[in-house]
Parts: sequence; C-alpha cells; structure tokens
Amino acid sequence: MTAFSLPEGVRHWPQYFSPAQQQDLLDMIRTAVTHAPLFTPTMPRTGKEMSVRMTNLGSQGWVTDKQRGYRYQPTHPVTGKPWPPIPQILQDLWREVANGVAEPQACLINFYTDDAKMGMHQDRDEQSFDAPVVSVSLGNSCLFRLGGTKRGGKTQSIRLDSGDVILFGGPARLAYHGVDRIYPNTSQLLKNGGRINLTLRRVD
Ligand code: SIN
Ligand code: MN
Repeated sequence: MTAFSLPEGVRHWPQYFSPAQQQDLLDMIRTAVTHAPLFTPTMPRTGKEMSVRMTNLGSQGWVTDKQRGYRYQPTHPVTGKPWPPIPQILQDLWREVANGVAEPQACLINFYTDDAKMGMHQDRDEQSFDAPVVSVSLGNSCLFRLGGTKRGGKTQSIRLDSGDVILFGGPARLAYHGVDRIYPNTSQLLKNGGRINLTLRRVD
C-alpha cells in the first residue's frame, strides 16, 4: 500500500466516499454546472487552452486566462454570477480531515475527458498556506504524480480511484503535483467516461 510511503503532510483516504455518496456528489455537481457552466481555462500569457474544463463552488473561485492569469474571484468569468455554495457533504469532509482549520472558501471542479491531463504545478495562488488542500476524485481512475516542493525533484505516482480523498498540508502544502493520465473504463459513475476532481481550499 502507498499509505505508508507518502511524504509527510500528504494523506490518502481510499474510498472515503461510498458509491451512494459519490452519486450524491455527482448529482450536486450536475446541478451546480447548470448555474456555473464549465469553461475552458487558458494559460497566462500564451493563452494556450488547458485540457480540463472547470468551474467552482464557494465564495471564491480559481480561474485563469491569457490576459489576467491565475487568480481567485467571487464570480464566474462567463456569466458574471456568484459561484454556487459549497454543499454540506464537502463542508463535512473538510471538518473531518482539515484538523480544525476554518471552513473552505473555494471548491474548484475540474472535468477531465479520458485524454485530458494536468501538468506538474504547485497550488500557490492563495494568500496563506496554513490551510491544507483537500481533493476528491470521482469517475475514472487517474495516475496522480506527487513531487516535493522544488520543481524537477523526485516524484512518486499514486493511483486515485473514484471516492478517494487526498490531502496536502504542512510540509507538503506546496508539493508539486499533476495528473499524468486517466484510465478509461475504470468506473461506472460517469456514463460517458472521464474524471472529476474537486479541490477544496482556503484562499486568505
Ligand atoms: C489540480 O491540481 O487542480 C487537480 C488535481 C487532480 O485532478 O487530482
Ligand atoms: Mn493543483
């Protein structure tokens, strides 16, 4: 099991959410995207499209585009409306794993098609790194790559399955991470395949 060899500050709860809870989360996401539609984020300066589509829940949402780069904002970049609230089931998750830290302000929703991936990066657009990052996987499994806090250092790979939760906090709060690949047909949750990641964070 990988659980014994994860870096200090990283925790992995395989199957934290039951199949019924995963379905509830999916239903919640479906409702949320009718209010806050998925959009295609673009990289700062180059304007290159990322392969995931995204949206957010919470008082702040993470967005990126060519002109203004990576940032948090209280409204959807296309509709201009506030993001939908973070549902109770995710507030409860945070309370259970985040060790007394105040409630999450942002929940990024990433949708991966089976050929999408995410390059290695740090989550560092928040004003403070005291709170952990808590992340939920739904749908097809992925090969998640985790490094240290310096770019180009040693990395390890973990498979994340539907219902899994992973947390990076403390010495691992700024750990590099990315998604190398999605494994098609590894979950029945999403009828058309793909993977959803939910990332809970505090922003300030
Ligand atoms: C992210 O780092 O934004 C997403 C990570 C994941 O999809 O598991
Ligand atoms: Mn990230």
